[in-house]
Amino acid sequence: MISRKVGAALAVGCTVTTVVKPPAETPFSCQALVELARRAGVPDSVFNVVTTQKNVAEVGKEMCESRIVKKVSFTGSTPVTKLLAGMSASALKKVSLGAGGNAPFIVLDDADMDEEAVAAAVICKFRGTGQTCVGTNRIYVQSSVYTEFASRLMEKVAAFKIGNCLGKDTTHGPLIHTRAVEKVQAHVDDATALGAQVLVGGKVIPGTSFFHPTVLSDVPPAARVDCGEAFRPLAALMRFETEEEVVRLANDTDVGLAGYFFSRDVGRVWRVAGSLRLGWSGAT
Ligand SMILES: *[C@@H]1O[C@H](CO)[C@@H](O)[C@H](O)[C@H]1NC(C)=O
Repeated sequence: MISRKVGAALAVGCTVTTVVKPPAETPFSCQALVELARRAGVPDSVFNVVTTQKNVAEVGKEMCESRIVKKVSFTGSTPVTKLLAGMSASALKKVSLGAGGNAPFIVLDDADMDEEAVAAAVICKFRGTGQTCVGTNRIYVQSSVYTEFASRLMEKVAAFKIGNCLGKDTTHGPLIHTRAVEKVQAHVDDATALGAQVLVGGKVIPGTSFFHPTVLSDVPPAARVDCGEAFRPLAALMRFETEEEVVRLANDTDVGLAGYFFSRDVGRVWRVAGSLRLGWSGAT
């Protein structure tokens, strides 16, 4: 995330100050980037880091309102994004903002299953053990291909090896902290209580923050898995009948950061692409 933003700024000759509220879980990754930049020959004072734990609001305000800052780029939760956008507006600053997401992943009945839909779902849902903002939270599969898709995805996920990320055979690591584990467990419990089935995974390795990558089938619309941004290795499969129905379901979110769909019919691809409401973030 940081390298993408900083790289572009440096490439056009700007200095950069990155403000990090160091999360207790990952306090050093930004500092490590600064050190790598220094070793690569980036001069001092070109790539700077301000760390703050207690004075987040004051530092954020200064960054957004200072006359010497020309542009603010932020990725994070929708409420904080709105706050920063408001403050930056008062100084008429350029902004690039990436807020919350609840990406739909749609498999239409003419999708290329193996090569595309299943492979993409594995990456889209389980990259970073499901902890990415553009990852899918809701997988809609058209009724006639539902069973096939579910069983192929289940097969792939069952073959994952969780463990030490430096291990040779490891495919997936832990969640970031035990709160994340509790949240995904709560989502699994809630969905199963409402009638969803666990196809694979569904539980934590006791006493750790390793959660078994999970596929849930027939998740009902009322389940909490479907209600907003979540960072979790949990693929929630839902069945749909018609294209109109799935577009309505996909559109029905307050955080349309990203979305995905699969079809081999070019006409259909243009039609569905034009009718999905994505690439924005709003009300919450
Ligand atoms: C979905 O959202 C798009 C963009 O706002 C809109 O054009 C379309 O009519 C919506 N479709 C449904 C079924 O909600």
